[in-house]
Amino acid sequence: MRRFAAFVAPTLTALLFSVSASAVEISLSCGAVGAELTHCQAGADAWAKATGHTVKIVSTPNSATERLALYQQILASGSSDIDVFQIDVIWPGILVNYMIDLTPYAKQETLQHFVSIVANNTVNNKLVAMPWFTDAGLLYYRKDLLEKYGTKVPTTWADLASVAEKIQAGERKAGNDKMWGFVFQGKAYEGLTCNALEWVDSFGGGTFMDDAGKITVNNPHAIEALKTVAGWVGSITPEGVLGYAEEEARGIWQSGNAVFMRNWPYAWALGQAADSPIKNKIGVAALPKGGANGKYSGALGGWQLSVSKFSKNQAVAADLVMYLTSDAEQKRRALVGGYNPTRPALYQDKEILAANPFFDSLYETFTNAAARPAKATGAKYNRVSNEIWNATHAVLSKKETAEKAVPALEAALVRAMR
Ligand code: GLC
Repeated sequence: MRRFAAFVAPTLTALLFSVSASAVEISLSCGAVGAELTHCQAGADAWAKATGHTVKIVSTPNSATERLALYQQILASGSSDIDVFQIDVIWPGILVNYMIDLTPYAKQETLQHFVSIVANNTVNNKLVAMPWFTDAGLLYYRKDLLEKYGTKVPTTWADLASVAEKIQAGERKAGNDKMWGFVFQGKAYEGLTCNALEWVDSFGGGTFMDDAGKITVNNPHAIEALKTVAGWVGSITPEGVLGYAEEEARGIWQSGNAVFMRNWPYAWALGQAADSPIKNKIGVAALPKGGANGKYSGALGGWQLSVSKFSKNQAVAADLVMYLTSDAEQKRRALVGGYNPTRPALYQDKEILAANPFFDSLYETFTNAAARPAKATGAKYNRVSNEIWNATHAVLSKKETAEKAVPALEAALVRAMR
């Protein structure tokens, strides 16, 4: 027995030493919108179990705008506190100098993802981030209420406004005085830029700037779009919308107090949860057109994973990124959280489509979503977006008319781009 112990002890020590010498802790920042943090933790835990490394999850603010400010503060100080950053689809041009090139780790893997997202994440030939999940702005509607009032899913904003008005009035009369017609993201932050882009684009007014960086916002369609939306605030939309981000809008919607909501795909799985008052009463469609000559438009959103150049464990961090963006993990996330994969092949997966029927019916909405002008503006994107959300907020809160705000926004964008 003693001989056995003497034989085994050094071997075990050597083994333990080699594991502890190579096992590291990776810190991963992820979002906490809805159930995001739980899903992020589960993925990280699975990787940790398989590799022997550990992951520390850092929760970040819900607002993309606040999250960017936090990241910039951490990165500007040269801190190695966060190894892996969950970054927005509009940030590769802003954060390019802080992140490592993932090309050597991704190798052929990038070919499995949507070409457009990989291109978006590539700045000056550097793969700044791996695609994690994609998004597009969607219209959520109450199937049961539309049926009750004998109306179809609206295809123009004018339709939506009149259906919303009718059902809001009817439901209030029937006893729910908290009922609203339409909720969206109207707070002055990045989410409002997404909503504004959808309104303007759907009226045929473009996306503020074209791909070449030419400022296109000053046009009658853009004015008409913003005017229309300002008219809803206080009638079919609560005044409070001026302070709503994604979760505030979802709060009203999921408690059963809105006929329509504009939100991202994550709201589906939560609305369908066992304890949701609107389970099985939800429909999802493309956002309406701005009139018969308008078009369907949904802003392109989505999140990527990057490795900080200050990370002391870049290769291990990159391994975590490759795991989280893998086929199996994207499938798991699509099933448990309704996150849209960035891998086209997963849109053929029967289980994923059964859990998220709109991944199929709205495939075009996801693949043709309207990009914010992040490529053309690069590092200046946040400044440009700030002008867009402020101008829009001023119109929605009736501090400024659309006729004045739109040309002023054009001038501000010219200045921002100088
Ligand atoms: C969602 C989108 C992201 C966007 C943000 C705005 O998280 O995925 O791209 O910037 O909403 O609120």
